[in-house]
Amino acid sequence: MTEETPTKVDMEKIVSLCRRRGFIFPSSEIYGGLSSCWDYGPLGVELKRNIKEAWWRAVVQERDDVVGLDTSILMHPQTWVASGHLEGFADPLVECKGCHLRWRSDELEGDKCPSCGGELTEPRKFNLMFKTFMGPVEEEASVVYLRPETAQGMFVNFQNVLNTTRKRLPFGIAQIGKAFRNEITTGNFIFRSREFEQMEIEFFVKPGTDGEWFNYWLEERLNWYVKLGIKKENLRLREHAKGELAHYARACYDIDYLFPMGWAELEGIANRGDFDLVQHASFSGKDLSYFDEEAKEHIIPYVIEPSAGVDRPFLAFLCDAYAEEPDKDEIRVLLHLHPALAPIKVAVLPLSRREQLVAVAKEIYADLRQHWMVSYDDAQSIGRRYRRQDEIGTPFCVTIDFQSLEDNQVTIRDRDSMNQIRVPIAELQKTLVAKLEGEDLFVLPPGGMIWKEESKE
Ligand code: GAP
Repeated sequence: MTEETPTKVDMEKIVSLCRRRGFIFPSSEIYGGLSSCWDYGPLGVELKRNIKEAWWRAVVQERDDVVGLDTSILMHPQTWVASGHLEGFADPLVECKGCHLRWRSDELEGDKCPSCGGELTEPRKFNLMFKTFMGPVEEEASVVYLRPETAQGMFVNFQNVLNTTRKRLPFGIAQIGKAFRNEITTGNFIFRSREFEQMEIEFFVKPGTDGEWFNYWLEERLNWYVKLGIKKENLRLREHAKGELAHYARACYDIDYLFPMGWAELEGIANRGDFDLVQHASFSGKDLSYFDEEAKEHIIPYVIEPSAGVDRPFLAFLCDAYAEEPDKDEIRVLLHLHPALAPIKVAVLPLSRREQLVAVAKEIYADLRQHWMVSYDDAQSIGRRYRRQDEIGTPFCVTIDFQSLEDNQVTIRDRDSMNQIRVPIAELQKTLVAKLEGEDLFVLPPGGMIWKEESKE
């Protein structure tokens, strides 16, 4: 994967852009924030929705063999006994005897506190699941957990989905939802937080075919990131060593991205074998087998699990799209986001606030927003308005000028090349559909004309 030199962007620039333009805010900021919890602002929520939508489209909508599900965050506590999370979902925790800061011992380089150099306690297992109580009584019998992965909701519904959809192997279940982990060490912005979202697929296959499906999903998932614009040289596959595998996994690869702090996991693809269905069948006493018509026998399917976060891909898409270009005496900051991901698809910009221009611009705005997230901006010079849109990754700006009143044409300006074309208003929406689907900007609709900007605005 790594033929070209990977590129890294400065995390501070990403954090600053996110705050400045309303992608991400610290959670409950007016109270000083809550450690490693984040709120997605007006632009962030759009980008996040678009990532989830692109994933859903690729793994559910466009496939015959995967169906969706949305299960509850709180599950029967036995779920976590059967899944092994109550016993095994723990990190080794050490505490500094001097400053009392806590660390994951497997992430420390030496045997002293990284903060004050003090002596550390012996490691103890710290379970990462958040505990709470169901109902009005706070006692052991009413303990429930916030799910640490969405996966278990799909395993416990295996028979429900099988019975209601009549799917045959191989088939998968996909789910997007919140997960919670009381991580000991957090940080690197939204990379590791305590509340995050996952996009997971549990793909059930006949035992013996799991190797080929594992390879299939590795390729499929890697390509998803590339198709949505992540540079190949910033992605790599990393195989888990035997000692590193989760308790349920027979094999696992991470898709790593070159984040500002270095290579780190974006998504994990694991072969979970029959671990989960066997465990849940045994703990629930319910039959979770599948009748194989060919072999005329009951089998327990194996599971291939492509498990992505939403927040880490969010950060990766932003880092990969971020660019700075010299622009006269200034710097043009832009996000080369794939149009499918861009929070705002089109900005409508009347050249001035003159009444006749505003009337046309507002009509265009009202029409386009039926189809996409569109923004309307009439404040400051046209150059500044283009810059504001570049910085948030808006692929196209539509400018309405005085000539538009004469010839019923408007200008479409392309974010990446800054090239412009002029098209009849009647052809505008159709042209934008084509552009947003990635057609060459210089394919002209009837009556259109084309030119290249001589210098940057
Ligand atoms: N069901 C398998 C599973 O949960 P995982 O590797 O622990 O596997 C899958 O998590 C993905 O969830 C990760 O690749 C990452 O994108 C995301 N993720 C996990 N922990 C996270 C955290 N603390 N903050 C943000 N994202 C996290």
